[in-house]
Amino acid sequence: MLNIAVLISGSGTNLQAIIDNTENGIIDGSVRLVISNKANAYGLERAKKHKIKNYFINSELVEDFDGEIMKKLEEEEIDLVVLAGYLKVLSPEFIRKYENRIINIHPSLIPSFCGKGYYGERVHKAVIDSGVKISGATVHFVDEGTDTGPIISQASVDVLDNYDYIKLQAEVLKLEHKLLVESLKCYCQGKIKIEGGKVKIEK
Ligand code: GRF
Repeated sequence: MLNIAVLISGSGTNLQAIIDNTENGIIDGSVRLVISNKANAYGLERAKKHKIKNYFINSELVEDFDGEIMKKLEEEEIDLVVLAGYLKVLSPEFIRKYENRIINIHPSLIPSFCGKGYYGERVHKAVIDSGVKISGATVHFVDEGTDTGPIISQASVDVLDNYDYIKLQAEVLKLEHKLLVESLKCYCQGKIKIEGGKVKIEK
């Protein structure tokens, strides 16, 4: 049973999917900690409802922000960190310390529509503006780049002619929940290996 921490900045629907699927045993892990850099992130309420230790850390007041987070991760003996709508860039020290133990969910098919400035609805606006016919979601390990770590899993959705970015965001978000839960289930079962910078998932 792995100890999981989830970092959030917003509504936390991905967090909710992780909580629900650790509580029902699909994911062999336990969410021990939720940390937000936004005081009003509804994901903190979700943690409270499930009696999960949760913190808002104010990056304006805390000098060594990532150091503060890492202290709490150590206190809770965290094995895996999940970024679920977390909008701050992690420090190289954080990433080194948790190498290949930080998983992110991104709302596009990386390497398209990702990198600096591509987050939240901006991703979906760019997809709609580009006229591409397929979009989707990507779960990947976090490295020192932005949305560039080894890809764990992807799932696609058709971008229909009548879609605006709101509808696309809703369709992709549904996909994210399924993809993230499936990826974390495999990770907690020890089925995810990285060979030559590429992820292999044992059947
Ligand atoms: C999701 O679209 C995720 O892909 C992106 O931020 C959003 C978070 O949504 N990184 P939620 O807070 O999990 O509802």
